[in-house]
Amino acid sequence: MSTTHRVHALLAAMTPAEKLGQLQIVFRPSSTDAAQLIREGIGSVFWPRSAAATNALQRVAVEETRLGIPVLVGLDVIHGQRTIAPVPLAQAAAFDPPLVRELAALAAAEARSGGVTWTFSPMVDVSRDPRWGRVVEGFGEDVHLTAVLGSAMVRGYQGTDLSAPDAIAATAKHYVAYGQPEGGRDYNTVDVSEHRLRNVYLEPFRAVVAEGAASVMAAFNTVAGRPVHANRHLLTEVLKDEWGFAGIVVGDADGVRNLLPHGVAEDLAHAVAQAFGAGLDVEMGGAPRDLDPADLERIDPARLDDAVARVLALKEALGLFDDPYVDPARERIEPTDAARALVRRAAARSCVLLKNDGTLPLRAPARILLTGPYAESTDHLGAWTQSFGAHAGSIADELRGRLPDAEVSVVPGLGFLDDDASGIADAVAAAHECDLVLVLAGEPSALSGEAASRSDLRLPGRQEQLIRAIAGTGIPFGVVLETGRPLVVADWIDEAPAVLVAWHGGTEAATAIVDVLFGDEDPAGRLPMSWPRSVGQIPIHYAHERTGRPASTGGTLTTETADVGLDGPGNVHEKYTSKYLDLGLGPQFAFGHGSGYATFAHGEPRLSGSEVSPDETVSLSIDVTNTSARRGEEVVQVYVEDVVASIAPPVRRLVAFERRTLDPGETTVFAFGLGREALGFWAADAAFIVEPGLFRLHVGPTLTSTQAVELRVR
Ligand code: NOJ
Repeated sequence: MSTTHRVHALLAAMTPAEKLGQLQIVFRPSSTDAAQLIREGIGSVFWPRSAAATNALQRVAVEETRLGIPVLVGLDVIHGQRTIAPVPLAQAAAFDPPLVRELAALAAAEARSGGVTWTFSPMVDVSRDPRWGRVVEGFGEDVHLTAVLGSAMVRGYQGTDLSAPDAIAATAKHYVAYGQPEGGRDYNTVDVSEHRLRNVYLEPFRAVVAEGAASVMAAFNTVAGRPVHANRHLLTEVLKDEWGFAGIVVGDADGVRNLLPHGVAEDLAHAVAQAFGAGLDVEMGGAPRDLDPADLERIDPARLDDAVARVLALKEALGLFDDPYVDPARERIEPTDAARALVRRAAARSCVLLKNDGTLPLRAPARILLTGPYAESTDHLGAWTQSFGAHAGSIADELRGRLPDAEVSVVPGLGFLDDDASGIADAVAAAHECDLVLVLAGEPSALSGEAASRSDLRLPGRQEQLIRAIAGTGIPFGVVLETGRPLVVADWIDEAPAVLVAWHGGTEAATAIVDVLFGDEDPAGRLPMSWPRSVGQIPIHYAHERTGRPASTGGTLTTETADVGLDGPGNVHEKYTSKYLDLGLGPQFAFGHGSGYATFAHGEPRLSGSEVSPDETVSLSIDVTNTSARRGEEVVQVYVEDVVASIAPPVRRLVAFERRTLDPGETTVFAFGLGREALGFWAADAAFIVEPGLFRLHVGPTLTSTQAVELRVR
């Protein structure tokens, strides 16, 4: 039977109550409760934790309901289910779309083998405020990187056929602008101009919808005062009408009920009617169940039919009408060797070398001290790792195994959040007995993720004190940071000879960190978010709009600079520029920052032509040579600067990137095709335009070390 035929036949046979049942996904921890809900007509449930339990629920749906419609089984598979990959922010640091796709495909295969058909991932919220704990779940501050990696993740989850035994439906979330809550406080207000909405926050959603994402989740926040769950302009006019999105819009957990505290609904019936009327297709939490059937008359029946048709079409695409069951004998419960190898490589590729004076890679030391809370901890999985048995090893155990001939001492000195610094003295005493110290520091997983905003982004507890105490010993040392967000490191970074950011790397984090420390893998990742100098600088991101008074030097807090007027002494003009009096310019480490163990020489960038029409594509190429004696990885980044536009353009905008491995002495050509998408922007009235004029294309290994070529658009 064709999809439309089956969907229409079912729709014609359904009662209003059966229709409404299809439009809800309900949390029920116990499968007995879930089975009862399905008997009552609920069309989607959360995963009941095993293939056998999922089959039992599907059997209830198929055999015990009037129309026998199978259920969608949802789960937040965010960075793996049984085998845990690095957190998405870490995956972004790898600047490697094929890797993101492979990781998503692995997650999909594991999840679907247990009966999961629907994940609530990827998160493509552009995130420019590291106080917000959910930066860990997305791909950072950049529009292009987020769009490209979000699309790669969707391809990985969904493959080319959703009915395949290793495919699941993806959900792009949280639509839209959830990544910019006021003050970085989760769930808080978002007020964003149409210009920024179009050019920044909507753009990755547009890309993943074009990639075929099966569903989109509405965000908890308001946009210009209107909660997204009740925002017809965003859910229907932009997403469905303008972009032609044919999948399902799912609400976030209790997002419809939350319309009451938001202050836009007088009661639950009003909230439900507004949400479905605005374009929501599936409510998450079960709010409609609490309504009087008479209340449902407020909802336009045609709108309900459209929502039901979307749900049924997804069930059909997943092949559930033909076979809703999975084979429990093939459920993938433990990571396979291949899965472990993949996430190990991913964790290594996600590492970013913030600085290095040559301390890294380590040469096998005779006596090494591991200190800091991550020395023995196994908390490497990161936010959104649900308790399905995943676990990771410790760096101490891994290192002992790799250095059987060395004396490995382990003195953590303190816990993550400890206020008691007394153990630092033991770490210092142990350091004096060693040739090398590794400080394994960071944020535990619980400090990032949902509802985990922080107002202070320094290392928690007394960890900074530990780093400074180790620096004071004069013994060579390196710092490894595991974290789910950018940290403020200003108070100690100058004292540390080498700093490696390993994020929360997943199941094989410890192995991968040791691979990188000893140079078996190159830490060539790049920062997907700027690291601020202080919390007072936030929001800080590289692609900020140009101002009328750009600063060229940082402020200095002296009475002289504070008092000076236009006619006063010193650099009078510099006083009236956009900066802080008490802070240098720019972040501590910019977006795109990172190096590696090898060294590279970049040739002169070349353009295939110096003038193009707005619809043409120009090719930008650059020769890159590995000038070192080791194999290494280089990430080439291309940024556009629109010199004059009708709207104040961002200072730079990433438009292309590529990561490649080069052998010692090897020269390779990186070539990028840049066309309309790279040169244009969304103007008023939702028109995408390329304006004639001068552009500069900046290309290089990091944002701050680029070379420019000029291009004119006719
Ligand atoms: C709330 C979160 O905001 C969302 O990302 C998640 O998918 C749902 N809960 C379901 O767990």
